[in-house]
Amino acid sequence: MARRPLVMGNWKLNGSKAFTKELIKGLKAELADVEGCDVAIAPPVMYLAEAEAALKCSCSCGSKTIALGAQNVDVNVQGAFTGDISTEMLKDFGAQYIIIGHSERRTYHKESDELIAKKFAALKQAGLTPVLCIGESEAENEAGKTEEVCARQIDAVLNTLGAEAFNGAVIAYEPIWAIGTGKSATPAQAQAVHAFIRAHIAKKDQTVAEQVIIQYGGSVNDANAAELFTQPDIDGALVGGASLKAPAFAVIVKAAAKAKS
Ligand code: PGA
Repeated sequence: MARRPLVMGNWKLNGSKAFTKELIKGLKAELADVEGCDVAIAPPVMYLAEAEAALKCSCSCGSKTIALGAQNVDVNVQGAFTGDISTEMLKDFGAQYIIIGHSERRTYHKESDELIAKKFAALKQAGLTPVLCIGESEAENEAGKTEEVCARQIDAVLNTLGAEAFNGAVIAYEPIWAIGTGKSATPAQAQAVHAFIRAHIAKKDQTVAEQVIIQYGGSVNDANAAELFTQPDIDGALVGGASLKAPAFAVIVKAAAKAKS
């Protein structure tokens, strides 16, 4: 079964109202004629309103559908949870693809596999698309623990929600040593891990494993994207730094559309 690639921009803690409008305008212009690749952006939640308005604007700046996303969500829907953002709030702004378990949240906010599995469940419950980030640290990689770590992070969801939870979901394999370092995994390295992840899910459900989108993330840029996308189990990318510039991000989207057509 052919999987439709997904390239998503993770803006992290960057931008402003004006930057959001400008970047989206640029993306719509650059991507107007691109088919064969789904595209999503996750600005900071502060700017979802600007992003929603800019994406809807029907001026001459292009008709490509760019989906909206977010970088995190809480498990609670309402009440005394200071500082948190719910699935319903994200839906209110038309956000669909929600990143959870990013290594920066695992590290700086001590998010556990268990909490991330609960976030996954909350997103499914709300009809939103989880983009589950997994990946090993440099030390784990050097100790040969890459598969063990990825399996553990996937199992937190598999063992609580079952394989069906991955129907329509997205996994982003992001080796921590490759994030923001300029040192991407090689296409062969990434492919081996992606194939492992798919096979791991296939042990529970072959059909679910075949349709799940597995993005690669970690220093993807306009120069290395095309080669990464030649790999059969790399179904797109989660892009940080290079998603902040419309021309570079557009090159990555076009490379995915071309490689997977
Ligand atoms: P990077 O970030 O592309 O800047 O390495 C990717 C990510 O953290 O999602």
